[in-house]
Amino acid sequence: MTEFSGNTYFKISSQKVAQSCPSNIALIKYWGKYAGQIPANPSISYTLSNCKTNTELEFIAEDKFSVQTFLAGKEEVKFASKIEKYFKSIEEYLPWILKGKYIIRTENTFPHSSGIASSASGFGAVAKCLMALDEIFSGSLDCDTKLRKESFLARLGSGSACRSLYDGLVVWGETREVAGSSDLYAVPYPDSDIHDVFRNFNDWVLLIHEGEKSVSSTVGHSLMNTNPYAERRFQEAHENFSTLKRILKTGDLTAFFQLVEHEALTLHAMMMMSEPAFILMKSGTLNVINKIWEFRKETGLPLSFTLDAGANVHLLFPANKQEDRIKEFIVKELLQFTQNNGVVKDVMNF
Ligand code: PMV
Repeated sequence: MTEFSGNTYFKISSQKVAQSCPSNIALIKYWGKYAGQIPANPSISYTLSNCKTNTELEFIAEDKFSVQTFLAGKEEVKFASKIEKYFKSIEEYLPWILKGKYIIRTENTFPHSSGIASSASGFGAVAKCLMALDEIFSGSLDCDTKLRKESFLARLGSGSACRSLYDGLVVWGETREVAGSSDLYAVPYPDSDIHDVFRNFNDWVLLIHEGEKSVSSTVGHSLMNTNPYAERRFQEAHENFSTLKRILKTGDLTAFFQLVEHEALTLHAMMMMSEPAFILMKSGTLNVINKIWEFRKETGLPLSFTLDAGANVHLLFPANKQEDRIKEFIVKELLQFTQNNGVVKDVMNF
């Protein structure tokens, strides 16, 4: 029995539930994991506001377990088999889960095939739907326990998804820098330790390359098992946590940008040092990075970037009186490196 073992006394009935969950962007990256979705190092992310997945889950109580999924109205067989496997893997935590048929309709508020990770918001929304059903079938949990279990279940679907259950800055993975942090679920970063400048931040995602990535993050994580630089990287993530803690408290934007950009480039350096090596950045990614560095040097304005496991660039800049000049620069100088002028404008406000 663990904290998250499901109640074996339950009463099922056909139900329809709907939930929504945002995506997140990591500042200190999770890259490399152990069995059971245990992260090799702690990570911290911003939860986004506009990039969300909306999911409706219909449960039909019947003897045969099956899953049917629709993405933006179109049936997705591949996604259904992923969810089926996922549901089978979490029966210990939701003992009723294999006792019916599921029809799952899901849509993202950001463009499909934009390359923005939908697995974090997608698994976050599914975990919330499952916990909504569990409340009906097994009885309610207190609010904190329910959130923790949602995060725990989301993690088993896609690691980074566990951070999407909370707003603001969110930590996943045990670190001595954050009391209560865990490898099993995410926790909110302590509010009293966050300087105001970080509470109102833009994240504009430049869509450099739309479409499927050449290497999935599942494969990318597993290549860390044989990467000769992996241990040093895991250690460095811990060290970066201590540095970031001081930065978040003092509001030191220069140090923040330095650390966040170093994390983004380290993630991609790890990909290049994998065997076999792979590169997810495109020439547009590099052009944008160089332009940002030039712009910052010339103007001193607070514009920075981070990268996900893909070619897109997340432009990070505080939402304050200088933001108009930064937005002007983005439109004039950076949009040319996107496919079809693609940009998704998000903001973190908490
Ligand atoms: O959750 P996964 O398995 O898709 O891995 C995500 C890894 C990164 O997005 C690159 C980093 C992170 O911490 O979100």
